Amino acid sequence: MKLILSYCASVILVLSLLVNAALALDPASIAGETQANTLCPVSNKAVNPAITVVYEGRTWAFAEEACKTQWEKARAESLYQQLGGKAAIDAAVEAFYVKVLADERVKHFFDDVSMEKQRRKQKEFLSAALGGPLPWTGKDMRKAHAGMEIKEEHFNAIAENLVATLKDLKISDEMIGKVIAVVATTKDDVLNRPKKAE
Ligand code: HEM
Repeated sequence: MKLILSYCASVILVLSLLVNAALALDPASIAGETQANTLCPVSNKAVNPAITVVYEGRTWAFAEEACKTQWEKARAESLYQQLGGKAAIDAAVEAFYVKVLADERVKHFFDDVSMEKQRRKQKEFLSAALGGPLPWTGKDMRKAHAGMEIKEEHFNAIAENLVATLKDLKISDEMIGKVIAVVATTKDDVLNRPKKAE
């Protein structure tokens, strides 16, 4: 029995050494990156694992070189990257909700809302809307704000807080204008009013 137990212990030890060695040899695990995607974010076809790029610590794989080029161009041209990427958007959303929760015009809307979740969701939404690499997977803006009786003055107060936040972060007026233009595309949905004809 003792012999069997010590045999099992040795097998477990050897296996764990092998797993550790394999992890150490994997460059993605060294960099702390997540596992690469299996479907190309551009063509939706199966990826070629040899065609990759590391962006904000995450490995992205593509079906073809052309997809990778297109994806990298989209990132470079995005407001998301021009603003400073994930770190900048996250910091902006944190500071934005400090202002929102101090704003008498709108703070009551968030009385029963988990602000931890709200900050996380807003980071995800704004990142996607500004051209970040990850898609928005939450509710559409009409459903998310349904039944809240949000009026134009509330929307404007929220937008005003966002502008003030971006100004505090020394973002240029030109860039702020572009961000607000993106946020404005949600207005009809947030106010739950019919979409204006183009
Ligand atoms: C200015 C554009 C706005 C954007 C981009 C936006 C974005 C979002 C997002 C991403 C969520 C989370 C949705 C989800 O759970 O999947 C959310 C929820 C919410 N929004 Fe907005 N929002 C906007 C305007 C407003 C305004 C004007 C108000 C009120 C003054 C407001 C109040 C809320 C509240 C209270 C929730 C939480 C709903 C809940 O979890 O019960 N939002 N919003």
